[in-house]
Amino acid sequence: MEHIKRMQRLFREKEKEPFGSFQIKVMGRWWNEVELKNVLNALAIKGKEKILDAGCADGRLLEYIYKKFPLCELYGTDFALNPIRQVLKKNISAHLICADVSELPIKDLFFDLVASVEVIFMLPTHEQRIKALTEFYRVLKEKGSVVITVDNYNTWFEEIDGGKEGFFKSAPDLYAYLYKPEELKKDLEEAGFKVVKLTGINNLPRKYLNRFKKIGVLLDLFISNFFKTLSFKRGAYLLAKGIKGGS
Ligand SMILES: C[S@@+](CC[C@H](N)C(=O)[O-])C[C@H]1O[C@@H](n2cnc3c(N)ncnc32)[C@H](O)[C@@H]1O
Repeated sequence: MEHIKRMQRLFREKEKEPFGSFQIKVMGRWWNEVELKNVLNALAIKGKEKILDAGCADGRLLEYIYKKFPLCELYGTDFALNPIRQVLKKNISAHLICADVSELPIKDLFFDLVASVEVIFMLPTHEQRIKALTEFYRVLKEKGSVVITVDNYNTWFEEIDGGKEGFFKSAPDLYAYLYKPEELKKDLEEAGFKVVKLTGINNLPRKYLNRFKKIGVLLDLFISNFFKTLSFKRGAYLLAKGIKGGS
């Protein structure tokens, strides 16, 4: 399975437009807003925390957090250098490390918060996904929180060659394991976390979300927070929050 990881890293090294800017351009400003706002809400930042964005690509989330909480100490890691170089072009203050999420060169109990947006579902084995989540657990301080998003099996399955896991039809160098809500909870628990939030996000069709703008964002957040079962069926992504030492 190492060759799949290598193939994905090479894809990222050659990518002309790294994931973050691609996401904003192709999926739309308001789709991006609802996704990052959900992550930010779940992180519940107070203002001066040490935060890791694991698999940060070109720093879409880092920039979003920095604009709202400039006093936080931000760290971004990605296993490809190409996207990390793009973060350097942004006007944000962040420590950047080129590293695999399954082997973070960071000491234990270092961060208050860890976010990993659309990353762990791209790791090709259960063992690697658990290893990454266990790394997040290790680098978090006691009572620290992790916020994870992954692609939702209930809405993405037609995009994957093989249904549940396999290569994206639109990008055959990229692998995905599509998560069901209960699997995401189970994996976080296996890594030691207590899961305190689990929901679907980006529920509205893209064209409605982008047409209704701020109202669309509010409606989407409302569905995620108050109609969880519907959001599991409709959400493009699943979002989970886990707490270290909360059991
Ligand atoms: C779908 S993109 C999401 C990027 C970013 N989190 C965002 O939401 O804008 C997945 C990112 O994870 C990175 N990635 C994938 N596997 C990784 C691994 N094993 N270690 C570190 N980064 C990885 C890729 O290079 C890519 O930048």
